[in-house]
Amino acid sequence: MIYKFYQQYIFPHLLNQVMQTASLMDKRRELLLAVSGEALEIGFGTGLNLPFYQNVDTLYALEPNIDIYHLAAERVHSTPFDVQHVQAGAEKLPFADNSLDHIISTWTLCSVAEIEQALDEIYRVLKPTGTFHLVEHVQHNENTKIRHLQNALNPIQKKVADGCNLNRNIEKLLKNAQFELYECQYFDAAGIPKIGSRMLLARARKL
Ligand SMILES: C[S@@+](CC[C@H](N)C(=O)[O-])C[C@H]1O[C@@H](n2cnc3c(N)ncnc32)[C@H](O)[C@@H]1O
Repeated sequence: MIYKFYQQYIFPHLLNQVMQTASLMDKRRELLLAVSGEALEIGFGTGLNLPFYQNVDTLYALEPNIDIYHLAAERVHSTPFDVQHVQAGAEKLPFADNSLDHIISTWTLCSVAEIEQALDEIYRVLKPTGTFHLVEHVQHNENTKIRHLQNALNPIQKKVADGCNLNRNIEKLLKNAQFELYECQYFDAAGIPKIGSRMLLARARKL
């Protein structure tokens, strides 16, 4: 019961605060300037990407957790383009094959329970000429000590952060799902504890 209370009333607010860390906001800007027209964002969260879309007409805001989406209400309301909430998980996307030019994920692939299935779905709905834009925290492949800590603390992280995994090798998962990364930038985000600060910003297309 206490855990349910935490998940419903406390975690969404913590998420909304942590995800506004300045270094993350800078990367949102860098990632999203290239997005235009119609786009799908998976794991929309509390709507923190909205100010950074400069040329978008319609955004499908896929967010399964209604308690989190509620915190996006004001941001959605003051956005000058069309934002349509889609309450679904990325594992089963309610979109046609080859139908979208842009799909975005910002710090969501860590939390999707069935990650391989979700990447297959993203692949299915992305147009052959489309782009998957993403920025994610990832497994630290260059630092063995941090990688071991990520593995050791992953079960606790999943409990306190709504299913978030510290140790996913996102580049490998993308390649296994037949994506080609034509932009691939690793960096350490300032203001985030070392265990979760290794990040990947990438743009991928279908092979
Ligand atoms: C760490 S938050 C990131 C939120 C937002 N993308 C951002 O950049 O602030 C992860 C988000 O993924 C969502 N999520 C969890 N499981 C999901 C799934 N299976 N499909 C889509 N989104 C999911 C969560 O509800 C949460 O909003």
